[in-house]
Amino acid sequence: MKNIDLRSDTVTVPTPEMYEAMTTAKLGDDVYGDDPTVRELEEYSAELLGKEAALFVPSGTFGNQLAIFTHCERGDEVILGEDCHIVAYEVGAAAVIAGVQLRALPTFKGQMEPAAVEARIRGENIHYPKTGLICLENAYSNGRVVSVEYMQRIFAIAQKHNIPVHLDGARIFNAALSLGVEAKELAVYADSVMFCLSKGLCAPVGSILAGTRDFITAARKKRKLMGGGMRQVGVLAAPGLVALKKMIPHLAEDHKKAKLLGAELAKIPGIKVFSEDIQINMVFIDISATGYDPDLLVSELYKKGIKVNGANNGIMRFVTNYWVSRDDIYYVVNCLKEILASSSQYDKS
Ligand SMILES: Cc1ncc(COP(=O)(O)O)c(C=O)c1O
Repeated sequence: MKNIDLRSDTVTVPTPEMYEAMTTAKLGDDVYGDDPTVRELEEYSAELLGKEAALFVPSGTFGNQLAIFTHCERGDEVILGEDCHIVAYEVGAAAVIAGVQLRALPTFKGQMEPAAVEARIRGENIHYPKTGLICLENAYSNGRVVSVEYMQRIFAIAQKHNIPVHLDGARIFNAALSLGVEAKELAVYADSVMFCLSKGLCAPVGSILAGTRDFITAARKKRKLMGGGMRQVGVLAAPGLVALKKMIPHLAEDHKKAKLLGAELAKIPGIKVFSEDIQINMVFIDISATGYDPDLLVSELYKKGIKVNGANNGIMRFVTNYWVSRDDIYYVVNCLKEILASSSQYDKS
């Protein structure tokens, strides 16, 4: 039985080299600063992003929330896009952990209107919270990549008003690849950056928060407060190093596989592929014109060894990753054709 998982790139398991690295990693108590593997990962990450320092954290959510907690004081206001991960999928943590108010702006293709961002920056007034932070995301969890020029514009506005910018770069290497730039060319437009070692890079766990040395020193203390002092965590930093040193080039293949999947799905009558939105490893489709129920499709594909998520607002998302081969893509497309063809629900006109 096949096991093809297109639900997300978060489903990736470690490579054999990562398992090997885990068993041979040099370890120490990281709360004492004694774990050489963690130190190497943090230094390597900082260099990769062109930042002074970096910190290993358990997850992307942890890294984003730690950034907000470190940049802001309680009661500050944070300006960000209404569809960004921090607003949409982090359980309202910014209100609980940092105690900040989120000022969420509408976005068009992932971008806030720069003039609208500037207009929301608070002046001094007894009634107003302080604007403590602006957050950007690239690539978006919906697969969208925002331009370097956009990041540059928002960063310039933030600098003019002396407000820090945090970049949720969970998939910064996918974004950089899609834009044809180095990750540090995106990181330069943010004071702090979070990226994930898990997801497309296949490490089992962990993210990095990078910024100035002072910022990371403050974040390290707040990480402890959040319960994130992780002792002999070199065992997890070791696969993270393999992820950064070996896996980044493979993301290009994930992007190509997404394009292939999109192109093949587009040939199936009734399936609308949002081809212009295939910017990283994610493919979005609308099957409503087939007359086939997306939930039924999820269960029928599952019977053939293929895992996909159900529709969100009528749109289904398929995500390619390192462990999904080109043959798997053709298998998925053929299964989809078969399922639709055998259904009386399918409008074949
Ligand atoms: C853009 C973005 N930011 C943050 C996260 C959070 O990462 P984690 O699941 O490791 O908390 C995700 C997870 O998918 C994401 O897509």
